[in-house]
Amino acid sequence: MIKDEFFNKMEALGLALTFDDVRLKSSYSETDPTKASVETLFSKRVPLKYPIVSAAMDTITEAPMAIAMAKLGGLGIIHRGLDPETQAHHVKKVKLHLNGLIEIPITTNPEQIVQEILNKCEEKNYSFQSFPVVDIENKLIGIITKNDFEMCTDNTLKIKDVMTTIPQMITAPKGTTLEEAYKIILNSKKKALPLIDENQKLAGMYVFSDLVRLLNVSSNSFNIDAKGHLRVGAAVGVGADAMLRAKLLSEAGVDVMVIDTAHGDSKNVIDTLKELKQNYPHIDVVAGNVSEGASAKRLVDAGADGVKVGQGPGSICTTRIVAGIGCPQVTAVYNCAKAIRGSGVPIIADGGIKHSGDLPIALGAGAHCVVLGRGLAGTTETPGDIKETSSGRFKVYRGMGSLGAMKSSIASRERYRQDKVSIDKVVPEGVESIVPYQGDVSSVIHKMVGGLKSGMGYVGAESITMLQEKADYYRISNAGLAESHPHDIVITDKL
Ligand code: XMP
Repeated sequence: MIKDEFFNKMEALGLALTFDDVRLKSSYSETDPTKASVETLFSKRVPLKYPIVSAAMDTITEAPMAIAMAKLGGLGIIHRGLDPETQAHHVKKVKLHLNGLIEIPITTNPEQIVQEILNKCEEKNYSFQSFPVVDIENKLIGIITKNDFEMCTDNTLKIKDVMTTIPQMITAPKGTTLEEAYKIILNSKKKALPLIDENQKLAGMYVFSDLVRLLNVSSNSFNIDAKGHLRVGAAVGVGADAMLRAKLLSEAGVDVMVIDTAHGDSKNVIDTLKELKQNYPHIDVVAGNVSEGASAKRLVDAGADGVKVGQGPGSICTTRIVAGIGCPQVTAVYNCAKAIRGSGVPIIADGGIKHSGDLPIALGAGAHCVVLGRGLAGTTETPGDIKETSSGRFKVYRGMGSLGAMKSSIASRERYRQDKVSIDKVVPEGVESIVPYQGDVSSVIHKMVGGLKSGMGYVGAESITMLQEKADYYRISNAGLAESHPHDIVITDKL
């Protein structure tokens, strides 16, 4: 690849580089930046409509952030500072936020009284009134809908007296897709479509209003799975923690598990990765973090579906200072990507992204997507309230290795291999901070993706794969960096 020569030269000089050390070379382009495709992968089977993922941190990603990210087309990774049950609950919230296929519809039975169902709707605050009617073997025998309830003049009647039965109702076989269901519903003019298996047993249900929402133009940007549910990831630790979380997360429908550690190239992580892959072959497993090519290769050989790169580049990280280790992020991404070229396993650049221009730099070096902590930390969707102060509005952002995070959760201590250390003896590898409130996450993503596309336009890359192939770099000096930022003026549009 074009960039190999540049990185080889830097290696020969013994130089490892980060974002502010480099800029991309511009080259002849026929690319209309607005039309550049930014679709990519987070892991082998988890796609992204744009290459940004929200960090698994307790001040960044819980259900509201993961929902917002997936609705924009990206992905959120629910942090593991939450206890396993609560974490799985957050995953479920994301998965149930949009109804595509309702896998286990709420049913009624033919002997139930109409008023009982109406009472239940009120008590549980159901926003729907379509209930498949099943017998004791869960075989579908009818359906009762809003229409039936409204036309019913005597609520003491039994469901069997008012329900619509086969063949007046429509059904479709298990496995019917969203698009097929939409066509069937449109043709039949019925608002609910129960699915049945080969034994006539209820196997799910589609509802017209859900399908309209999912299939309309603005929803095309959603990151949804085959059943129409938003995609979501969740962080796990190693060993028993990972196994317990994996069980609950898999039941909640998680799309990808991320083994979230500060040192991914370790026996614990590799053993956990192998065990997760064996027990949950249907769920992708991403492992990290690493910053050396050989480490990335080891994770891929152990079965990782994605490799997360970044040891110490994060805005709140002190690992490089406290432990003295870690490779500057652009070189780390390049080396890891190079080591696993051809494997089909995506590289995830985690940490250190300050500006939208850092995105094409990271992706050009070989990443498939980036993780943002600081970039999203000031948004409405992060956990925690906005702090009103005399100098403005702020939100809290802290490292998972900060004293506060380590004190509040054993998972944070375990991330830094300090779970066996008493609280008063932990050595933090991160800091706590506040950042200015930035508004909704959608505006941040819009600017980030806009900057990325502009960068792709300058390189002449219509896709992220092309960007990876065509990217070439300049090593810049401090003067070059100073020149890159606005200089010798008083900026007025930020006052
Ligand atoms: P940014 O730069 O986007 O980085 O804020 C977010 C990433 O930083 C990592 N992280 C940490 N690394 N000590 C560290 O050394 C910490 O306390 C810490 N907390 C988070 C993590 O990979 C995250 O995605």
